Amino acid sequence: MVFTGAGVSAESGLRTFRDSDGLWEEYRIEEVATPEAWHRDPAKVLRFYDLRREQVLAAQPNAAHHAIASLQAHFEVEVVTQNIDDLHERAGTTRVLHLHGEVLKARSTVDPTLVVPLNRPSLALGDRCPLGSQLRPHIVWFGEEVPLIPEAAALIAQADHLIVVGTSLAVYPAAGLIHYLPRSAPMYLIDPNDVEVARGGTHHIKEKASVGMPALASSLIAQLSGR
Ligand code: OAD
Repeated sequence: MVFTGAGVSAESGLRTFRDSDGLWEEYRIEEVATPEAWHRDPAKVLRFYDLRREQVLAAQPNAAHHAIASLQAHFEVEVVTQNIDDLHERAGTTRVLHLHGEVLKARSTVDPTLVVPLNRPSLALGDRCPLGSQLRPHIVWFGEEVPLIPEAAALIAQADHLIVVGTSLAVYPAAGLIHYLPRSAPMYLIDPNDVEVARGGTHHIKEKASVGMPALASSLIAQLSGR
């Protein structure tokens, strides 16, 4: 199991949220990432996600995304990501669960199961779903339920190893997922900064993802594959 956050995409040029140059330094969550913001000023919310989408379309997967994908040749790999970009998929990872949604998709405002791909940078007021309602970004906003948590928890509960990459573990319920990992399973954390983790026996690899992830992938492949 690999559980990722914004830090895994930082070296692809996508800003994290809570670092000193993070997105939440420039924008107020209440103005761009809540259902109330959408009701108050949908155009502003759409602009915020248009910018994110433009940057995702211009970004490329980095060595960390590729190292995660390379594990698939040796192990059964499941990625649970908090990221809304598609860089894991573009690196070749086939099983990716997006807890917080996907910026390259939009969804209906009358039927949340009606999700459509968006292969263009912009989503505008007046863009409608097949049922005729305004389309909204396919993003889980603050204050909304995270519908894929039970599925992610079930995956982590069956994991033999958990690699956590580039997340501050500050946002719940996602951050609580690590507690579903069986006690006997090792957990590795790759992050250049200190992260508060309330789980004993965590191996913290204090490196950037592009350095720490390829090194850990090689070491796990050497130790475990073919056992
Ligand atoms: P954060 O911005 O909270 O945390 C990013 C983490 O990445 C920090 O621990 C950094 O130290 C680390 N980091 C920075 N550069 C790195 C690098 N090159 N390699 C590895 N790690 C690096 O981002 P998330 O934990 O992903 O949700 O944030 C969780 C959620 O909060 C996001 O999904 C988003 C946000 O608000 C929503 O919008 C719903």
